[in-house]
Amino acid sequence: MATTSQNLSGLRILLIISGSVAAYKSLDLIRRLRDEGADVRCILTSGGAQFITPLSVASLSENKAYTDLFSLTDEQEMGHIRLARDCDLVLVAPASANIIARAAQGLADDLASTVLLATDRPVMLAPAMNPVMWQNKAVQDNVQTLHKRGYRVITPGAGDMACGETGTGRLPEVPDLVRAVCDFFQDNAPLKGLSALVTSGPTFEPLDPVRFLGNRSSGKQGHAIAEALAMAGAAVTLVSGPVQVPDPARVRVLHVETAQQMLDACLKSLPADIAVCAAAVADYRAAEPAEQKIKKSGEAGLSLKLVQNPDILATLSQSNRRPKLVVGFAAETHDGLENAKQKIDRKGCDWLVLNDVGGGKIFGQDENTVTLLRRDADSKLDAETWPELSKKDVARRLADKIAETLPRSA
Ligand code: C5P
Repeated sequence: MATTSQNLSGLRILLIISGSVAAYKSLDLIRRLRDEGADVRCILTSGGAQFITPLSVASLSENKAYTDLFSLTDEQEMGHIRLARDCDLVLVAPASANIIARAAQGLADDLASTVLLATDRPVMLAPAMNPVMWQNKAVQDNVQTLHKRGYRVITPGAGDMACGETGTGRLPEVPDLVRAVCDFFQDNAPLKGLSALVTSGPTFEPLDPVRFLGNRSSGKQGHAIAEALAMAGAAVTLVSGPVQVPDPARVRVLHVETAQQMLDACLKSLPADIAVCAAAVADYRAAEPAEQKIKKSGEAGLSLKLVQNPDILATLSQSNRRPKLVVGFAAETHDGLENAKQKIDRKGCDWLVLNDVGGGKIFGQDENTVTLLRRDADSKLDAETWPELSKKDVARRLADKIAETLPRSA
């Protein structure tokens, strides 16, 4: 269950466990990283598998333990290239002298070394070996080479070794490894120092004390965006209509029901550097909600007088406290691109995420296919269609795009 004290919530760590007696500590490391909210997927080298078993790794990570480069099943489930990329950090702990040498040489003779070559994600090494091996010039040169290539290296600890010798070469204790990982994400958060306001979910507009006007929005996409922005280091306020999805970790959540309450909560949350309006706000509300339950009126039917709700996205876009970047959403059933182009101008936002909801698609589902429309500095409109992705991956991509656009201010 996510709590706000988790420092790694929503982050995906690929843990490579190589052949060192310290591999036993990796089992506890998996648990502690997961306690911090990380999703941990593991690769066990053949050396690592001499010390701990794939079964214990899989049980503790609650993910498959990957061991083999040429496994047809693994490649079908998740190819080694995806394994190398679908993570936020590759952590090699313990990193043996052997895997360090193979990475420095660029070898690709097993799954772990191939993934290290194929990854475009940051890599952190936690070397663990006999003190004389650690001091060996060959090892030190290899570590230097990897460091120069951008690998982060956690210096091994000093003390008694399993082999009976004393010196530097111990895998740091698990809490120290977890702290190094948390610090890494904290220091490298691309939106650190920036604030973001996100709207999500539907609004419910009361007709009487029992009934309301609402819509099918699940809040999954908006909540995932709030979480992704928080993971990228932004201080996020999420203004959410009534939804079943849980509050995301590390996000301030304001729960509202109606469009007017959503607008008020948004205006109170300004200033913000970024606004993403993903809520499906009801366009109309009852002019005068009945104070008592409306009774059936028989054959004559029932007429309701509706009035238009405030447009939160347009209000934020045109506010004198306008966030630097305002992103809207458009759910269209037809003529999506044309309508979206008009909408970006009418509302005055900078970007618009267009999703096709024709034929009941998207609502409540976990996947989304979107086109991102962006007005560039010369007012030219750029449209980029992404492949079908999970809503969480759409959120991550959007957070990455926002981070590329807004320089962090810390
Ligand atoms: O006009 P339409 O509802 O299609 O616009 C969708 C975009 O405008 C979404 O970003 C939605 O969150 C936002 N919106 C809003 N307030 C409204 C209506 C829509 O913020 N009253």
